[in-house]
Amino acid sequence: MGKTILTGVKPTGAPHIGNYIGAIRPALDLAAAHEKSFLFIADYHALNAVRDPAALKRDSYEVATCWLALGLDPAKTVFYRQSDVPEIFELTQLLAAVTPKGLMDRAHSYKAAVDKNREAGRDADADVNMGLYTYPILMAADILMMDTDIVPVGKDQVQHIEFARDMAGYFNHAFKDVFKLPEYKLAGDTGAILPGLDGRKMSKSYNNHIPVFMESKARRKLIMKIVTDSKLPEEPKDPDGNTIFQIYAEVADENAAREMRAAFEKGGMGYGDAKQKLFEALEAAFEQPTKIYNDYMADTSKIDALLAEGAEKARAVARQTLARARAAVGLKAS
Ligand code: TRP
Repeated sequence: MGKTILTGVKPTGAPHIGNYIGAIRPALDLAAAHEKSFLFIADYHALNAVRDPAALKRDSYEVATCWLALGLDPAKTVFYRQSDVPEIFELTQLLAAVTPKGLMDRAHSYKAAVDKNREAGRDADADVNMGLYTYPILMAADILMMDTDIVPVGKDQVQHIEFARDMAGYFNHAFKDVFKLPEYKLAGDTGAILPGLDGRKMSKSYNNHIPVFMESKARRKLIMKIVTDSKLPEEPKDPDGNTIFQIYAEVADENAAREMRAAFEKGGMGYGDAKQKLFEALEAAFEQPTKIYNDYMADTSKIDALLAEGAEKARAVARQTLARARAAVGLKAS
């Protein structure tokens, strides 16, 4: 039987090319390669930190649209909002009943918040809400609900998957085998770090990022801003210490990347030419997705309709898992 793969994404605003290369593209590839795949918008997880209802709504549409525009196939991947599947929250409560408090105390994200408070001389739990504290239980419910085999994650999420596995084990041991034990698969942020306009790691916090979705003119202007040294076109250059090439190598096809590498090494490839080539490669990759993105964002009812269909499919699976879990603990299977 084929494996089931599941990923949750927090709604955090429009992606940049580093997000695409490091996280979105690998997750899409994995979803396409597995028989069953689930991808959902973790809006309840986001709520622990967001206090602006309009922002939560907008960011949720934005992230949904982003994945659709970049090639997620909702006919193949079950695509839904976490908040549209109430069974998940009921399962969270069932898992909470078998989860030791100490496990939550050991969660990296909670510990990081506590450390930060201590450093600032504040009460250890200042600004820590129960949503943050029990974040891993909700996440385990997301995962266990869909009989997930594999969860592609970045390094920062590995502990959460181990916790989900632990909780599945506690439950299965206390009652009976209801849950599959999920595994994580490191996806993204394992490879090379994509540099931004100034050569540092591409990041919104450095404001050196190239958004995925943008109009051609703005994209061109941004690419022309990539910082280079002052070598002349005819001088040989090291492609690996060169922002233009590093981005190009990720978005252009292999042959084109090989050609640019050779031209830089040999001499004769000026930065202006290389920027133009990079711009063209980015256009080829993202012009159409930008159009799709803008179309969806202009009419969010289409996204609602797609997500409603996804929620129905997700709930069909969720109802079965929840019935199994309720029966196992001695509740009416409902
Ligand atoms: N915690 C994940 C993040 O911050 C998002 C998430 C929520 C998730 N539920 C999940 C990821 C289930 C994988 C599986 O990125």
